[in-house]
Amino acid sequence: MIRIGIIGCGGIATGRHIPTFKQFETVKITHVFDINVEVAKSVSKQFDIPYVSESAEALIDAVDAVVITTPNKFHAPLSVLALEKNKHVFCEKPMAKTSEECQQMIEAEKNSKGILHIGYHYRFMKEAMACKSLIESGKIGKPLVIRVQSMRRRKVPGWGVFTNKDLQGGGALIDYGCHLLDLATWLSGSLKPIEVSASTYNVLSKQQAPVNEWGAFDPESFEVDDHVSAFIRFENNISMLFETSWAANVESDCEHISISGDLGGIDVFKMRYNEASNGMMSTTQIDYVQTDKTFEYLQAENFIGAIQGVSHLKVQPQEAKYVSQMIEAIYESARTNQAIKIGE
Ligand SMILES: NC(=O)c1ccc[n+]([C@@H]2O[C@H](COP(=O)([O-])OP(=O)(O)OC[C@H]3O[C@@H](n4cnc5c(N)ncnc54)[C@H](O)[C@@H]3O)[C@@H](O)[C@H]2O)c1
Repeated sequence: MIRIGIIGCGGIATGRHIPTFKQFETVKITHVFDINVEVAKSVSKQFDIPYVSESAEALIDAVDAVVITTPNKFHAPLSVLALEKNKHVFCEKPMAKTSEECQQMIEAEKNSKGILHIGYHYRFMKEAMACKSLIESGKIGKPLVIRVQSMRRRKVPGWGVFTNKDLQGGGALIDYGCHLLDLATWLSGSLKPIEVSASTYNVLSKQQAPVNEWGAFDPESFEVDDHVSAFIRFENNISMLFETSWAANVESDCEHISISGDLGGIDVFKMRYNEASNGMMSTTQIDYVQTDKTFEYLQAENFIGAIQGVSHLKVQPQEAKYVSQMIEAIYESARTNQAIKIGE
């Protein structure tokens, strides 16, 4: 039996990870910890979890694996602490606030008997897995140009600490855009980014009395990005046009990834692929992908299988670090008004 402890008992822990891990007979959630002890007690009671730990360290000592669902600032120090104690780590996305912290997590994992998973759950969606298998079968050939949009119309999270730069490291990009950056680069072959040119905005969220569908927030204290555009270059002359937003004046929310290759092109949401051969152009729409498991179940199953040594972790720490490097370079490019090269 793998004993699991939850650090940070907020929305994603209670809405996703606790109910999901409870479906597996090979694991048991034995401990919870939250800096707000009343929250931890209430979650322990609600989900019938036996122990409320007095500290993150005490929890780590008492379990085999931890799920880290705190604000982003604590992802790296808690992951490193757990890995140093040879515990397995499931850390929510983004991997960390900075690429330097990501590297510390990678080093800690190398020296640990524990494994490190980062919660880029879009990879476990049926469309993502189907596209990955089509791409790996050679359907689009070599990827050339990638277009990514992860757009929300006027949906700044009005709860939690999502607009707090110190705790989160940024706004729409690090919180939401990171998912599609990860998915698009993984689908295209775990691309290594080399240069970024970007602009960031928070004009709409700084306006007085902003129209917002996801609760109220204070424009005065809004200190993060709500809209980002970027041009990203990768090794082997692959490039990406990227846009993400929490608050844009667009007609509707949209998640879009399209990858144009030398043999064909693929759209992920909604799935279709484009080909040109024998004097003809065709587009095939994928109407149905067979699967009987949800993405959250598949993600947890992959983590548990990797602990048991029967599965390969689908999200590799180095890939999650590439995402953090792109995010960091986007912020730096916007701040300095110049293109930013990405090193190791
Ligand atoms: N994969 C996804 O789609 C997804 C969705 C939502 C959130 N997340 C990620 O999960 C994390 C948490 O988000 P959330 O929506 O649950 O936030 P939340 O604000 O609802 O919950 C965070 C909890 O962590 C607690 N906390 C804060 N600092 C702590 C610390 N140092 N030690 C222990 N507990 C601490 C808070 O008291 C709170 O209960 C974030 O990193 C976020 O990016 C991922």
